[in-house]
Amino acid sequence: MVHAIPYSRDRGFNHFSDQMIRTLREIDRVVVQTLFRHNFLTPEDPYFKDAWKHRTRHLSFGLWNEGSLIGMALVRHTKLEYICIDPSQQGHGWGSMLLQHVLSVCPTLYLNPADDPALCRWYERHGFQLSNEVEYPRFISRCYVRHRYETRSKDNHKI
Ligand SMILES: CC(C)(COP(=O)(O)OP(=O)(O)OC[C@H]1O[C@@H](n2cnc3c(N)ncnc32)[C@H](O)[C@@H]1OP(=O)(O)O)[C@@H](O)C(=O)NCCC(=O)NCCS
Repeated sequence: MVHAIPYSRDRGFNHFSDQMIRTLREIDRVVVQTLFRHNFLTPEDPYFKDAWKHRTRHLSFGLWNEGSLIGMALVRHTKLEYICIDPSQQGHGWGSMLLQHVLSVCPTLYLNPADDPALCRWYERHGFQLSNEVEYPRFISRCYVRHRYETRSKDNHKI
């Protein structure tokens, strides 16, 4: 479990009894990076630094449960760069709660998920659609997009 630096309450975050989602601040960096390292391999570290530095501050959130940071989402413009939940807390709906919160403030979002079918299905369940796919010798690179509104299908093009 990653322990959060004490926080002060401010405007603009959700507070459900012991759970809280609020925007990430500079003071959170160390715990967020620790959480990141619990989820991603060391070669990802430079990407974390970049994602943290260039995050869109009002769209990047941390999720706390009983005072401990258990989840984070880093967004840059309309790209979800990283979302993760403490490994010991995964599979209990926290990731969905955090993703839904991000989508409530940024309904149009895109991302490049890890090459993992369960992960892709998870994003699809949250309304993302596959927009592009490129096959490399060792992995498939995909882009998923979620639009604020339904886009027109070819059938709807007749006005
Ligand atoms: C992907 C992730 C954020 C989902 O958060 P979560 O709290 O575990 O998700 P929820 O409890 O809301 O939903 C669970 C679903 O996520 C799916 N899932 C996708 N990838 C998963 C993973 N690596 N571990 C566990 N569940 C995963 C499961 O299939 C599960 O589906 P089910 O409910 O039918 O069993 C979280 O599992 C995680 O941090 N994974 C590692 C980091 C990662 O891969 N991040 C995304 C790439 S940037």
